[in-house]
Amino acid sequence: MEKKRNEPSLNRMYDDFADLWTLISNLEDYTEEADYWRKVLREKLGSGRHEILEIGVGGGHNLYHLTGDFDATASDISEKMLAQCHELIPDIPLHVGDMRTVRLGRKFKAVLIHDAIDYMLTEEDLKQTFATAVAHLKPGGIFVTAPENFRETFCSPSVDHFTNSNDETELTVIMYAYDPDPNDTVTETLFYYHIRTKQGLRVEQDRHLHGLFPLKVWLKLMQEAGFTVEKYPYPVHDDGREAYLLVGTLI
Ligand SMILES: C[S@@+](CC[C@H](N)C(=O)[O-])C[C@H]1O[C@@H](n2cnc3c(N)ncnc32)[C@H](O)[C@@H]1O
Repeated sequence: MEKKRNEPSLNRMYDDFADLWTLISNLEDYTEEADYWRKVLREKLGSGRHEILEIGVGGGHNLYHLTGDFDATASDISEKMLAQCHELIPDIPLHVGDMRTVRLGRKFKAVLIHDAIDYMLTEEDLKQTFATAVAHLKPGGIFVTAPENFRETFCSPSVDHFTNSNDETELTVIMYAYDPDPNDTVTETLFYYHIRTKQGLRVEQDRHLHGLFPLKVWLKLMQEAGFTVEKYPYPVHDDGREAYLLVGTLI
């Protein structure tokens, strides 16, 4: 997508504002979500401390809740987000890489991609990412992912906001999400960060592009990558919209 005049740079959340991650995302909010991931992993892999890989781990908020049960490795495209993850989960191996191309030279019982999958903008991106998952799975291993929206569930425009604070900073974030062109697979979310410290109030902008695909496209592309695919209900969104954990078992 062409950059228009006055548009903020992309994905500043994971770079300029990575050190605000614990105010942007509440660790406790992932407790319920992680329960669904744990249940699927246990159901598919059985008991034991299986080796799992999370790709696009971000600050590790979901993974943190799974490391009591599983031996985790993680990767992300952003070194600053991996630094956040290291602070939260110091003992796990971390690797920098793009989910479309990263190759760790190791295989796992499960590969997880939480909401980071939303940064895949085209079907070609998804195909490459699913190939990454296949490359890191042992025979019979599982790939689990959780798109935030499907074409069927996306509401354009939508506005949301929240405030979180710690001893030094009060952060208020306002988000505006919309679909600039319903004929392509990309949506845009603008973020406005109101960062209040002893020095005063600073307002910053950020811009994220997310992929948007019909559910049947997800299922088809995962099958073509070599998985048998199941949908597990994932009722974690405040607005009650339909969501699934997509679970692929490597044939
Ligand atoms: C919303 S955050 C993930 C938060 C994570 N679910 C957690 O529990 O903390 C999305 C992450 O996706 C990562 N990401 C975006 N594009 C990526 C890519 N092409 N390859 C790998 N990671 C990517 C970003 O750097 C960011 O850390």
